[in-house]
Amino acid sequence: MSARIPGTDRGPARRSWIRRAATVTVAAGALAGLVVSAPGAAGAAQPASAARPSALAPPDIPLANVKAHLSQLQSIATANGGNRAHGRTGYKASLDYVKGKLDAAGFTTTVQQFTSGGSTGYNLIADWPGGDPDQVLFAGSHLDSVSSGAGINDNGSGSAAVLETALAVSRANLQPAKHLRFGWWGAEELGLVGSRYYVNNLPSAERSKIAGYLNFDMIGSPNPGYFVYDDDPTIETTFKDYFAGLGVPTEIETEGDGRSDHAPFKNVGVPVGGLFTGADYRKTAAQAQKWGGTAGQAFDRCYHSSCDTTTNINDTALDRNADAIAHAVWTLGTGTTQPGTVFETTADVSIPDNGAAVTSALEVTGRTGNAPSALKVGVDIKHSWRGDLVVDLVAPDGTAYRLKNSSGSDSADNVIATYTVNASSEAANGTWKLKVQDIAAQDTGYIDSWKLTF
Ligand code: TRP
Ligand code: ZN
Ligand code: CA
Repeated sequence: MSARIPGTDRGPARRSWIRRAATVTVAAGALAGLVVSAPGAAGAAQPASAARPSALAPPDIPLANVKAHLSQLQSIATANGGNRAHGRTGYKASLDYVKGKLDAAGFTTTVQQFTSGGSTGYNLIADWPGGDPDQVLFAGSHLDSVSSGAGINDNGSGSAAVLETALAVSRANLQPAKHLRFGWWGAEELGLVGSRYYVNNLPSAERSKIAGYLNFDMIGSPNPGYFVYDDDPTIETTFKDYFAGLGVPTEIETEGDGRSDHAPFKNVGVPVGGLFTGADYRKTAAQAQKWGGTAGQAFDRCYHSSCDTTTNINDTALDRNADAIAHAVWTLGTGTTQPGTVFETTADVSIPDNGAAVTSALEVTGRTGNAPSALKVGVDIKHSWRGDLVVDLVAPDGTAYRLKNSSGSDSADNVIATYTVNASSEAANGTWKLKVQDIAAQDTGYIDSWKLTF
């Protein structure tokens, strides 16, 4: 896989023999962090008619599978007094349904018990074997409903989409860099009880291994908005990028920050994010303009009521949000430590003798989050006395990282070297620059090419 994007020739290029077309090359290897194996037998079936997607790309989560889980949760509620609330039989039956699917798909599941209001509550945790145990990517949703209804949008929608994402991980036999964990929380509707219990009982050493917690509570609202939590910037950007790719505008979630299970994680310093399609707030005229639906009406008129059934779902919203979850799990789970994406410029830039610093710009796009802690900077400078040269890498925000100092005694030709920079505090995307200054008279040269390996 190699894409060549035309760039701009920069610099005076006094030597006609070094003038070349500038290129930016994105090299192969971006997917090297993933291992593909034969499709496993485990997991819910993909419709037979669907083409099997590449295991390397985030899958399109089949809406029909997500809706099949919602039908099961509806049946469970119907068979258990009309709800799936904490302390009621419908809750435990919901948990057993989800657990059965995960166990069959090869997850290691754990049921955590707690007590709230005199009743036993349950959290379900599912670990996908493998990945770096010190970098855990966690996606979760609450599985309980209020007692007044079946809770299909709140929160069968998040529960079913997270379940189907986990099953897609199994179908792809995804082997991401990070360890993947999925959670279904009990007693959220009683005040985030299950998720808080989980976080409070997690040793602090374990908390610090959670690279991110992604929360999904109400993602199929019948009069939907597309809201992204405004918390960790990397997670937020990952979701926004997904919707931008669909051409669907998003807004920041403002319908009560901290009103769902991400709050206990956020309170102990875990980076969090999530998606939401709206509860009892009303859609404004401007929102109806950009998203369709009905202005002046609640995003979910059945919020916390008996009409929150399988008919209380907008399929398009559920489908988009389920795909966004998979996109985030694939991108964030495999993202930062995947080696090998190379951005290079071969635009020649002359370095004036004993003169002002010059720069060569390199546009980095399509990355998620920050640059690596071991960013490789490959430099190829042709020069007849390299001791004259001071070389810096300049991040998109202007921060300079010294690669090389001048030296009166270093009389060798050329700077052809690979430097390693801890650039983990810098956003990866943007215009990076190689800055070179010649601080002594007589010998001269030019930047031949340079590259960044993410
Ligand atoms: N389960 C939440 C509740 O009952 C629903 C909710 C309201 C929500 N506002 C939110 C979920 C904002 C996520 C973000 O309160
Ligand atoms: Zn909820
Ligand atoms: Ca010189």
